[in-house]
Order: sequence, then structure tokens, then C-alpha cells
Amino acid sequence: MSVTAIKGFNDILPRESGRWHHIEQAARRVFELNGFSEIRVPIMEKTELFSRSIGDATDIVEKEMYTFTDKGGNSVTLRPEGTAGVMRAFIEHKLHAQDPVARLYYLGPMFRYERPQKGRYRQFHQIGAEITGVHDPLADAQVLNMLVGFFREIGLDEPHLQINSLGCPDCRPVYRAALLEFLEGRLDQLCEDCRRRYSTNPLRILDCKVPRCIEATAGAPSVLDYLCAGCNEHFTGVRGYLESTGTPYAVNPRMVRGLDYYTRTTFEMVTGLLGSQSAVAAGGRYDGLISQLGGPSIPGIGFAMGLERVALLLGDQEFSHRPDLFIATLGGGERSFAFRLMHDLLSQGARVEMDYDGKSLKSQMRRADKLGARFSLVIGENEVTSGKAAVKRMEDGTQSEVPLVADAILKAIR
Ligand code: HAM
Repeated sequence: MSVTAIKGFNDILPRESGRWHHIEQAARRVFELNGFSEIRVPIMEKTELFSRSIGDATDIVEKEMYTFTDKGGNSVTLRPEGTAGVMRAFIEHKLHAQDPVARLYYLGPMFRYERPQKGRYRQFHQIGAEITGVHDPLADAQVLNMLVGFFREIGLDEPHLQINSLGCPDCRPVYRAALLEFLEGRLDQLCEDCRRRYSTNPLRILDCKVPRCIEATAGAPSVLDYLCAGCNEHFTGVRGYLESTGTPYAVNPRMVRGLDYYTRTTFEMVTGLLGSQSAVAAGGRYDGLISQLGGPSIPGIGFAMGLERVALLLGDQEFSHRPDLFIATLGGGERSFAFRLMHDLLSQGARVEMDYDGKSLKSQMRRADKLGARFSLVIGENEVTSGKAAVKRMEDGTQSEVPLVADAILKAIR
């Protein structure tokens, strides 16, 4: 029996990779326009990095990490997300000493042992961006506008921005206490996971998708009613900036995140088009994370989008590259003439193909059609002798005669 891929680990086949390039190139363009530079960090880190940042009582750390003991007896983990590793590098290389305001982006595979389904995989890819060193809500709004701008750039109306504030270490405990009080009398209505979350991570109960938990928490207190003056002012500031640029958003006070490092602003870009995997991108502010990881007290904010989910939203749009020209030949001697011509055209940046096997003219033209070539050219003995051939526009069959030299052909097909 042949060996297959590991469950939840996908191949990105050539017919899909054009769509991935479209997404990655748009992200690089939009992020670099906003002053972000790429950082590349390892896909494996010491396990401790993730338990200290994402949080011990999160689903990710409790159940989903790919953790191994390496041959040296060290516990290592395939990264389940990018922020922790990027902040580890930010601290380790003292990037803050040059400028506490760093704008970094990254892309690559992440690993979570989740139940695979449409839009949810065990190896998936994120494109993320982080800004450090800015307390002002302006940074939150820039990150959000950049994210919304990215989706516009790739031509999607979906997903939509939802924002919330989770408060800070001063006001969140007050909210947590109010939520626990509300839930106390409703414990028996909750699912088993949520009963456990009640003592470990009660805010996550608001995010449970089990219908009876949604029902039981319908009248739960809103985190926004418990924000301290500083968090309230910050959230009002973020909203003000978004409104000043006409960025559409909705406030969702029930939005909680699956990672513990967030403070104040959190957000998700959500869609109804991907079933239960509604978050296409998500993020928030993490003002305590850098110091928690042993760095200076510098705030941060960022997001990551799931590339597979963005690709699903783009659907079956065609992103593969069509050849500009297909050169067909009639027989023996012309093939080396055509090969040289193809070489000249390729070196001048035209996308040119010819047939590899010396098949019949009919089957060569079928191939030109299949590849979606924009133009075709047939070279036989007569064409080689006269030094001229007819370039045919495949769309409507119109032909024009051109000298068989690269410059003239380029002019005809551009
Ligand atoms: P997250 O919400 O865990 O946040 O993941 C961000 C995005 O990654 C999700 O919205 C989703 O599109 C995608 N994603 C997550 N898990 C999977 C999966 N199993 N399969 C496919 N796609 C998935 C973070 O990872 C934070 N580091 C985001 C952040 C950056 N916050 C601040 N800076």
C-alpha cells in the first residue's frame, strides 16, 4: 500500500498554488506599504514559550500542541501560532533597543492537533503582523485598517470586522467575578468542557458553540460594562479612529479569544460562508506579553489570518498563469528553430510553451487550448524559409503575419 499524508496535513497542489501566491503577494504589498518588514522565526520552539504566553489553561496548550522530547531530552513544540516566537525573537535580539516600535510580519505553517474539518487542519498556514511599542489606540486602528485593506486588495467583501475589549489586569478580574456569579446557578446547564472551564478559564464559556451553553449564557454580563476608565477610553479611541476612516465594524461583547495574552482590544474578521470556522483572521492587543516573556515592559498588538480560510473564501477563481504564446511545429527541422525562438522570447519575459513530444498539429492545438494560451503560432518549413508566420489570437481567431524574430512577436502578443 502506498504511503499517504498525515491526517489534517494537506498538500497544496499546483492548481491551488496560484491562489496562495495571490494572497501572499497581496499581504506582502499591503503590509510593506504600512511599514511592516518580514521576520522569519523557527517553526519549533521550547515548549515553555507557548505555555507561558498562550496560557496553560487554554485549549491550545492543554490539548492541541505537537510536543516532543528531542534526542537531548528537551521538550520542544511545533509552533501552534506565530506571536510567541516573534516576541521571543524581538526580546532575544533586543530589537527594542534600536526602536521599541517594531512592525513585523510573518507567514508560514502552524500546527494544532484539532479535529480536522473544512477550514480547520492540523498543519495550517498563517500570515500575521505585529506592532510593538505603541500604547495609543492609533496602533490598534492602523492594524485593523491594514487587515480590512488586505481583504479589499484581494477583492473580497467578506469577512466583516468585529471588535471587543477584554480589559486589563485591573478590570478583568472584576468582570470575571461577575461572570462566575452569573454562571454559578447555571452550571448544570453547561456542557462538560464548560463546567471545567468554569474554574480554569470562565470567559471561554462565552465562546462555546454547544447550543445549551449558548442558551445558558444568553443574559451573561457584558465585559464592556466592567472596563476601567483607562480601558474604556482606549476602546473609545479605537472606535473613533475607525470611524474617522469610515472602516465598517461591529462591537461583539461576547467575543473572547482562545489565547490568554490579550489585554484591551480584541478582534476577529468573521464570515458566515465557512460553517463553524467563522474567523478568517483574528488578533488583539497584548500589553503584558513581552514583559511576561522576560523582555522590557513594551505593549504590542497584532493579528493572524488563516491562509486556508482566505483561500476557501476566494473560491474557484482562476489564478494560474496562462501562456502568452504557444508555438506549434509541423515536423522535424522546425522544432529546433522553434526551440530557439521560445528561448529568446522566454528570456525577454514572455510566457511561451511548445509541445515536448512532436505530436500532431491537431493535438498540439488542443494542448494550446487546454493551457489557455492567448496566442498561437504554427511553424512549418515554409515559415522557416520565408522567416514569417501568422500569429493567431486564440480568443477570436484573428491572425496577423509577423517576422519570426522575438521583438516582432513580442509586439504582436502584448
Ligand atoms: P488564532 O485566533 O488562534 O490567533 O488564529 C488566527 C487565525 O488562524 C484564525 O482566525 C484562523 O483563520 C486561523 N486558524 C487557527 N487555527 C486553525 C486551524 N486549525 N486550521 C486552519 N486555520 C486556523 C492567533 O494565532 C494569534 N497568534 C493571532 C494574533 C497575532 N494575535 C496577536 N497577534
